[in-house]
Formats: sequence, structure tokens, C-alpha cells
Amino acid sequence: MDTLILAFIIMGTAIMLYDIIRYIIFLKSTNDVLSYGGKSDKIWRAAGLVLLIFFFLAYLFVAIFAERNIVVALILFFGSIFVSIMLILMFKLLETVKTRSLDIAKVLISVIDARDPNLNGHSLHVQRLTMLIYKYMPRYMRAEINPISLEYASLMHDVGKLGIPEAILNKPAKLTDEEWEIMRTHPKIGVKLLQPLKAFDDIDSWICYHHERIDGNGYYKIPEKEIPLASKIISVADTYSAITMRRSYKAPKTHDEAVRIIKEVTGTQLDAQIVNVFLSIPREEVEKCMPEEVKY
Ligand SMILES: [Fe+2]
Repeated sequence: MDTLILAFIIMGTAIMLYDIIRYIIFLKSTNDVLSYGGKSDKIWRAAGLVLLIFFFLAYLFVAIFAERNIVVALILFFGSIFVSIMLILMFKLLETVKTRSLDIAKVLISVIDARDPNLNGHSLHVQRLTMLIYKYMPRYMRAEINPISLEYASLMHDVGKLGIPEAILNKPAKLTDEEWEIMRTHPKIGVKLLQPLKAFDDIDSWICYHHERIDGNGYYKIPEKEIPLASKIISVADTYSAITMRRSYKAPKTHDEAVRIIKEVTGTQLDAQIVNVFLSIPREEVEKCMPEEVKY
């Protein structure tokens, strides 16, 4: 009997140690998915970890010092199993939230793209290029940006085009000054549309400033130092996508032509540091970002 009791306690202790590791992984992965604004969120997260460690130490104490009996052993063993089940469910929930919200964003984007035949997969192209640039950025730059937020911001950078009349979006000729004035409002309309989604708070300015230029002559004339790093990345991806995709008024340009143009506007329109990262990416990887349905 004593051996059985000890076996349950040892198994419970081992499972609890595994639970602590899984809980730490869970905390790290939720950092990228959920936004933790308030102080209380951090306290709850830390409290969970402290309690798990406390239970682990209690298991060890019972295993080594306390008087062992089968009831205590079973409570400890099934307690650790319960924590494991909760963690499995939390991971599943996290995965579902992540996939579903990105899927919903993709549906929304296909609505925008459908209104403007010239967009034809542009948002998805920009998202893929942005995340590729992010992957190749040095670690210290990556640390400044939440990759999940960047994924959403790049996918939805043009969501504000929903507020632009189709006659302007689809105009086959050059836009008049007045029409350009309306077109320039799309980043701010995008921010307004996303306002009810509190989880997207941190990407507001990224979307708002995706047409800003390093020389301060962008849509809203924002000086370089105030342009968020994420907006600078989206801007490089957006420029490459606009050059290499087919439009009703122009044929698609090749990768080499796009690189030449991007180099020309580096330092005036685009950020030199981000362009350098972009140019360091192998050509095949950049070309693979073109959405399948619009590959030429
Ligand atoms: Fe835009």
C-alpha cells in the first residue's frame, strides 16, 4: 500500500512540474495573442504561477516529510491531472481564438478587395511581405513589435477604403485633387472602423500612419521620428506589392524593377533600415508572398 501511495504522490509531483512549464509557455503565447492592458491582468497571471509553484512545493513536502495516506495521495494526484486538463482546454481555446479572429479579418479583407478590383489580393500580399520582413529583422527590432498585432495591422491596413466611394476607388483615370483629398482619409477611416475592437488598440497608429514618408511628406505630414516602426515595415511591403501587382491601369513590374524603384525612394519615402532588411531576404521567398490566385 505504501508503495502505491508513494507512486501516486511522485506521479502527481511530476505532472505538477510539467503543468508549471506548460503554464509558463501559455503565458508567453498569450502575450502575442491577447492584449493585457491593466495592471490587474499581470497580477492574475503572476498569481496563477505562484499558486502552481506553491502546490508543487506542497506535493514535494507531502512526498518527503508528511504522513502519507491514500486519500491525500489521490487528492494530490487528481489535482495535478485537473490542472493538466485545464491547461489543455486553455491552449485549445487560445488556438481557436487565434484562428477564428484571423479568419474573420480575412473575410473582411476580401470584402474590401472585392469592392476594388485593383486590390485583388493586395492586403494578403502586404501581410505576407510584412511578416517576412519581420522574420528577417534583427532581434532587437523584433522585440519592439508584437507579431500578432503586426499580422492584423498589415492585413487590415487598407480597411478604411470601405469608407471611400467606389467611383474614386475604381476610377480608371487619374484622381483629381479633391478625390485625392478623400482618398487620403482612408487610414483615419480604418482607425475609426477598428475602434470598437479594444484588442486592436495598439495597432491604431500603425494603420493610421502607413502612408507616411520618411521626409515628412506623407498623407498626414508626420515627422520621421513619430512614425511607428510597424508603419515603416507595412509601408515597404505596401510599396513592393503596389509595384509588382497587376492594376487595371498598369502591367505588373518584375522583382528587379521593384527593387530598383524601392532603392530610389529609400530615405525619402521609405525607411533605410527596413529597406536593408527587405533587400537581405532571398528573392524566392519574397516572390512566394504573391497570393496564389493572382500569380502571373
Ligand atoms: Fe493604404
